Amino acid sequence: MSDPDDPHANISQEKISVDQKDPFSVTPWEVEGQVDYDKLIDKFGTSEITSSILDSFKTITGEIHPLLSLEYFYSHRDLDWILEKYRHGERFYLYTGRGPSGMIHMGHIMPWLFSKYLQEKFNSKLIFQLTDDEKFLFNQNLSKEKINYFTRENILDIIATGFDPKKTKILVDSKHIQHLYSIAIEIARHITFSTAKAVFGFSNSSNIGMIGFPPIQASPCFLPSIIEKAPTPVLIPAAIDQDPYWRVTRDVATKMGYYKPAQIHSKFVPGLGVSGKMSSSRPETALFTTDTPELIDKKVLSAFTGGQATVQLQRKLGGNPDVCPVFWYLRYFFDTGEESEERFLKCKIGNLLCGECKADLSNHSKTFITDFQKRREKAKDSVDEFIYTGDSF
Ligand code: TYM
Repeated sequence: MSDPDDPHANISQEKISVDQKDPFSVTPWEVEGQVDYDKLIDKFGTSEITSSILDSFKTITGEIHPLLSLEYFYSHRDLDWILEKYRHGERFYLYTGRGPSGMIHMGHIMPWLFSKYLQEKFNSKLIFQLTDDEKFLFNQNLSKEKINYFTRENILDIIATGFDPKKTKILVDSKHIQHLYSIAIEIARHITFSTAKAVFGFSNSSNIGMIGFPPIQASPCFLPSIIEKAPTPVLIPAAIDQDPYWRVTRDVATKMGYYKPAQIHSKFVPGLGVSGKMSSSRPETALFTTDTPELIDKKVLSAFTGGQATVQLQRKLGGNPDVCPVFWYLRYFFDTGEESEERFLKCKIGNLLCGECKADLSNHSKTFITDFQKRREKAKDSVDEFIYTGDSF
């Protein structure tokens, strides 16, 4: 079956290879194996978010967001620099995006929820890119019609996230390329094929559109400087899979007279199956913003857990929350830090049964998704307001 999240599924091009020695691999297009997040920091050359960065957040915002204290957002490039700039009065733009290859699941909206939080706290303008071109080029199974459909649907999810309409602009690559093209060709001129091969793993059988695509995702990093007519810092919240794009962008930034874009990287929300990130390619283990309450119940009920085979054994031996997607899902989305610690300990000593955690997850998810769906419905009236026209922000 085709995999809408995996642009290399069933395509004739040679599969893009990553370091075969590693038991896991993370690229912008696929995540395989059990990710070792610390190792990924070394491999990608990013930095961990230190307590001094958390202190800076606290100084500026008066708090540390749970997704930071829980280390869901755990890695960065130049985050300290951008916070320092902010403290000295220089505002930054936010930039994030979506490749519209399917409907939106809870993993996708994590960076969006965090971007909304940053937008509020730092009064930032946000550029949101929809890379419909990327999905068309990287997945031979997706038709333009399907991608257009997902683009329209995904825009509703973006708006439903609750971004400030006055400070948020959406660009759909194939429709608004006139605002990016001139930046993209300048970026492209600085990136050799040999760099693109090394960073993205392109090979002779990759189609030439794939090879030419990275500058398109890089260009919104510099659009704020053009809008503001002065070098403008940009912070990109996303999961760490997108980092290769920023690596090449950062390399060319100074050559083009711009600041290097800063990043804040998250881990992945796990799917509800045995392992792996939440992905549209395994819809039975992903919760989508369009799922019905019955479907949510069904998916959560059949979720894998870190529990024992029987209630008796669970009471006697305790469970293993570390490997339990239900635990992690609750931790990242719904539990407070304290609740999560308590859940962890109670599970470990056998005082908590998987059915109880599943009931919590189901109830929280149903409330969240039902509310989200109401906002999604309302979003249909405000699409135009969010589209970038180039005249103003
Ligand atoms: P896409 O559509 O694959 O993913 C959209 C965003 O969701 C993040 N993500 C996840 N986060 C947590 N848990 C998961 N299971 C999970 N799965 C996906 C991704 O990191 C991403 O932030 N090429 C991009 C689109 C894009 C973009 C950007 C993304 C264009 N410009 C700038 C981030 C920032 C893509 O296909 O994302």
